Order: sequence, then C-alpha cells, then structure tokens
Amino acid sequence: MIKPHGADTLKPLLVTDAGEHQRLTAEAATLPSLVLSSAAAANAVMLGGGYFTPLSGYMNIADALSVSRDMHTVDGLFWPVPILNLAVDTTAIKGAKRIALRDPNVDGEPVIAIMDVDAIEEFSATEKDAMTEQVFGTLDSSHPGVAVFQAQGNHCVSGNIQVLNLSYFESEFRGTFKTAVEIRDDIAARGWEKVVAFQTRNPMHLAHEELCRMAMERLGADGIAIHMLLGKLKAGDIPAAVRDACIRIMVDVYFPENSVLVAGYGFDMLYAGPREAVLHAVFRQNMGATHLIVGRDHAGVGDFYGPFDAQKIFEQVPEGALDIEIFSADHTAWSKKLNKVVMMREAPDHSPDDYVFLSGTKVREMLGNGIAPPPEFSRPEVAQILMDHYRAEAG
Ligand code: ADX
Repeated sequence: MIKPHGADTLKPLLVTDAGEHQRLTAEAATLPSLVLSSAAAANAVMLGGGYFTPLSGYMNIADALSVSRDMHTVDGLFWPVPILNLAVDTTAIKGAKRIALRDPNVDGEPVIAIMDVDAIEEFSATEKDAMTEQVFGTLDSSHPGVAVFQAQGNHCVSGNIQVLNLSYFESEFRGTFKTAVEIRDDIAARGWEKVVAFQTRNPMHLAHEELCRMAMERLGADGIAIHMLLGKLKAGDIPAAVRDACIRIMVDVYFPENSVLVAGYGFDMLYAGPREAVLHAVFRQNMGATHLIVGRDHAGVGDFYGPFDAQKIFEQVPEGALDIEIFSADHTAWSKKLNKVVMMREAPDHSPDDYVFLSGTKVREMLGNGIAPPPEFSRPEVAQILMDHYRAEAG
C-alpha cells in the first residue's frame, strides 16, 4: 500500500486508549483554555484522524512563513498550506505551557484537544498579508477563504496536540465521516491497490460521475474513493447531508457494487485553488489513495484562479516529494454529437453549441423552481433530492 506522507506509518493524534483518554479529560478540566477558530478546530480533526501525517500539531510562524513561501517547513518537509492555530486574544493562556483547546462548533465548547504550547507569537500585518497572497493568490476580502483567514487573528499558538474527539463530524455524519486510518483499513480489507480519490464539495452531476468513471478506466484502478468535504462552506453551498444523499444514490444506482468507497472528512473549505489541491493530494495519500483527480477549477471559487492552475501547480512539487499521482482532467460535458460525456480537448471538432452547458446559477434556479435539469446534466434521482432540498429551504 502507498506510504503515508513523510512517515512510514500514519500518525493519528486522536487518543484512543480509554485510560489515557480519561486521564487527559480530567487534566483538561484543570488547564487554562482557548476557544479555537473553526479552522483551527478543523485542523485538530484532520490531525486527529491521521490525514495530516506526519505533523504533530500546529505550526509556528517560521514554519508557516516557509510553507507559504515555498511549500516546505523549515526542516524541509514538503507541505503546501500552513496548519495554524490563530487567535485574536490569548490573554487567558498567557504563560501557560499546557492548555485545553475548546471546540467552537459544538454546544458548550467542549475540549477537543490538549496542547503543549511551544510558543505564542504574533504575525505582523505584513507577514499575514504575504501568507494570504501566497496561499490564496489574492488579498481580496471578497474571496471567502481570504475573509475567513484574515478574521482569525494574528496570534499564532504553536505546539503538539493530543486530540480527544473529532468534533461534530462523527455524530452528524455517522457512516460517512471517516478518519484516514479507517479509510486505509477499508482499502486494505477490499484488497484494492490502485485507488483513485475524487475530492468534492458538491452534489455530483453527470460530468462528475463520468469523470470518476474515466479516471478509473484509464488508470485501470481497483476502486474509487469519493471523498467529500463535510466541514464549513461559504453561504449558498449545498449542505453536506444533502450532498451525501445525492452521492450515495448515484453510487448505488450507477456504479458496480464494491467499486466505490464513499466517505467524508471534517475540514472547512479554504477555496485556495492550487494550494488546496496540493493539500488534497497530501491527505489523499495519507488515506491510502494512489491517485487524485484534479479537474477544472479544482477547489476554486469565482474567477480567482485559472481553470487549470490547480493542475499546473503540481509541476512545482519536487520529484519524490509525494507518492500520490494526479489524474489531470479536462473540462467534461455532455456532447450532443456523441451522446455521452466527453473531455472537451478530446473532441476537437466540437463547437460550444455541441455541448450541454448549464451554469451553477441556472441549475440552482431550475431546481428551486422544481424543474429537473435534463438527464444529460443530472441523474433524475440526484435531481429529485436537490429539488426536495430547495423546496424545503424555500418553504
Ligand atoms: S471542489 O472545490 O471540491 O474541487 P467540485 O466538487 O465542484 O469542487 O469538484 C470536484 C472535482 O471535479 C474537482 O477535481 C474539479 O476540478 C472537478 N470538476 C468539477 N466539474 C468539472 C467539469 N465540468 N469538468 C472537469 N472537472 C470538473
């Protein structure tokens, strides 16, 4: 099986030993505590589940700046996005060496992790802007990821953590939320060797479904892991439970049995386009995938990135830094001439009129009015779930 990133074995930071867990929970009640940002809590969940192997906690300023600048930590580990615990105010933990981290996304803000504080530093505004520009490619606060990042404060609390729970993901997405450890075990149990991962934050339409099928066939893969984001999205994006239902029915009806592993991960969307695509590759390697599909405008938003920037960035990944490979896909759409979904670069004789194109806005408008998009765009079962969702939202 493919090795985890930068380590021989996965390093999940979730404490699974019952005695140890009990001891740490009791200790947490005696420690000064910090309520995390949602992004920092999501980092704890990813660290807890082994997705961020080989990291052992939150980065300090030197690592964050180094990672932002050239995708390496100070010690030379390849890593594309700073993994931070940023806070607006750290007075409550001043001088503390060991602290409890509280989860802002669960009622009562329970402790999610315990931290050995290495340092509490402060980013200058210039450093924060430089990081933002390097990771997101822009400083524009209309970019949803930039707005969230800039609002997180400049205090950088770094150090190793021990994770006590995986936030709201296990209870809210039972059966779908999985750690990297669980996915590796599942892949091993299925006996799959070549495994393609598909990243998604959307309900899957026909172009997505066919993209998965093309990748599987062309790579001769044993299976595909459809791995959906379950954390926070920008306003207007479709809730995870609805997306999950769409994906599950599509898989049940249209894919051969035992060819698809459906799972989700607990992370807030960054919308960082190319840099997030590289992070996606790192944590898909950690969960045991050998390939990651990167298509059009992967992890992008609005017009902030070129349609294939998230593929081009992999040219900057040094040889040998990652074992996972990228399946770079062109824009896929239904061809009226060929009566199937094609990659557009593979149909050079086509003009735009030969495809069924529907903008996201148009599709939302149709679904909101109870009109199913054509079968060339969406499976009817998927369209039904989405129409029900929009009707419930309106009503
Ligand atoms: S993402 O933000 O999670 O990347 P989304 O769920 O829309 O968004 O896309 C999942 C994957 O499918 C990404 O790799 C994306 O590039 C790819 N993709 C989505 N739509 C198309 C399309 N029409 N053609 C090619 N690739 C696509």
